[in-house]
Amino acid sequence: MEIIRTVEALKKWRSSFNESVGFVPTMGALHEGHSTLIKRSVSDNSKTIVSIFVNPTQFLAGEDLNTYPKKEESDRKICELLGVDAIFMPEISTMYSDDEVLISAPNIRGYILEGHSRPGHFDGVLQVVMKLLNLVQANNAYFGKKDAQQLALIEQMVKNYFLSVNIIAVDTVRQNDGLALSSRNAYLSENERKEALKLSRSLKEAAHLFQVGENNCSVIKVKMLEVLDGLDVEYVSIVDRSFKEIENIEQNNTIVLVTARVGATRLIDNIWI
Ligand code: PAF
Repeated sequence: MEIIRTVEALKKWRSSFNESVGFVPTMGALHEGHSTLIKRSVSDNSKTIVSIFVNPTQFLAGEDLNTYPKKEESDRKICELLGVDAIFMPEISTMYSDDEVLISAPNIRGYILEGHSRPGHFDGVLQVVMKLLNLVQANNAYFGKKDAQQLALIEQMVKNYFLSVNIIAVDTVRQNDGLALSSRNAYLSENERKEALKLSRSLKEAAHLFQVGENNCSVIKVKMLEVLDGLDVEYVSIVDRSFKEIENIEQNNTIVLVTARVGATRLIDNIWI
């Protein structure tokens, strides 16, 4: 497995073969969720490259940029074991200059929900993903459905900018008790981890209500909030796949999202119906 740190070395690696390349962009602190993306890429493509880069432009002032979990050694081992061919681990100065042409997330989808709570976050995500996609020139790039809004915006950017990569959406990975895997789970105390289960339980409740015939979103949201009682809920939202709020759940076109703070940790989760 090659560790690549510069743009020149990445270009050299990329031009050394013609087979299909799968790309898994990450910020490191790899967990089962990432492993699932990586395994999918390894099975779909001849070569897989993972990027590990804690992207400063997607963190707002006061967020956890400086304390974001770093696990370089174990990240490398995981990649090696999963059959990754290369890891791209650039420095900030490799990725950014002082004066940059910026990308803005679209008003509607970029500044609601996560984008409303974290204004500018998606501009930074799109900026770095555009750079990474252009650098890696992958055939397929893999993103988790857990970051549903990020996924939708990246799909839109690829379409709007005529990028030729396929974006592959991969299901959220959960622990046995339902907790969605996230690098930020590392911040949770034992008690907070128990409380955090309320997020996935509220989503299960939404799916259950729909299965037994309830499709009114207001009713479902009230029931979800009951399950979430005791948490500092930022939003519960039910949208269609284009992220428009809807009144009634439609099968195969709905995403139910929840964001809450458990102690100081902000967690997001969603379920696709
Ligand atoms: O989902 C993430 O880990 C990040 O937002 C991404 C896509 C790697 C961009 O920094």
